[in-house]
Amino acid sequence: MDNIVIFGAPGSGKGTYSAALVEKFGYNHISTGDVLRAEIKAGSELGKIAEGFIEKGQLIPDDLIIDMLAEVYDTMRQGPGVIFDGFPRTIVQAKALKEMLAERGEKISVTLNLIVSEDVLMERLLKRAQIEGRADDNEETIKKRFNVYYTQTHPLIEWFRKEGVLSEFTFKGDKDRMIEEIIDKVASL
Ligand code: AP5
Ligand code: MG
Repeated sequence: MDNIVIFGAPGSGKGTYSAALVEKFGYNHISTGDVLRAEIKAGSELGKIAEGFIEKGQLIPDDLIIDMLAEVYDTMRQGPGVIFDGFPRTIVQAKALKEMLAERGEKISVTLNLIVSEDVLMERLLKRAQIEGRADDNEETIKKRFNVYYTQTHPLIEWFRKEGVLSEFTFKGDKDRMIEEIIDKVASL
């Protein structure tokens, strides 16, 4: 079974390229952000806690995310693979993912790191704000999310590199080309 981590800053296209991989390979997709937004909508205990963090552009505490992730993963183990979108975001989460997979005889197959310049990211998210109205898509909160990404999440790139699973993709203005490159990489696993 393939265990694909899709990694990158807010707006880098994790959700967009995940959808292309789901269509091509029939993977299951876990977006921790989507799960949390659904929990908020449902008014669950987790949703109530998550709401305050998301609105401030901060990360939800590691233990809450890790428990939730293992539960969702176990519902998805029948198919060809799983895409982890928005997880891990801290070193603690990365180590927990490695352990959770090892306990099930699995490992990270590849991490797809999406590299996009910050001005393009901001432009995309402000555009999405007009369409989807996500609570964290406003200029002030987007800047906070960038800051959280660079301080807490970006350092993980070195961890993935040391684990020997890092594969990098730089956006050069052509979305279809980027999709092709990502699909080629995943097809070669
Ligand atoms: P999350 O929902 O994961 O948000 P994010 O990381 O900020 O990323 P986005 O979903 O905004 O962007 P994306 O990379 O998916 O890009 P997309 O494909 O949409 O997390 C939200 C919050 O939840 C966090 O801040 C935190 O509070 C909490 N959380 C989640 N996971 C957590 C965890 N593990 N631990 C703790 N807390 C956690 O693309 C963006 C837009 O660009 C789209 O509208 C797309 O259509 C458009 N677009 C335009 N051109 C392109 C192109 N060429 N390629 C791709 N997309 C394009
Ligand atoms: Mg997303």
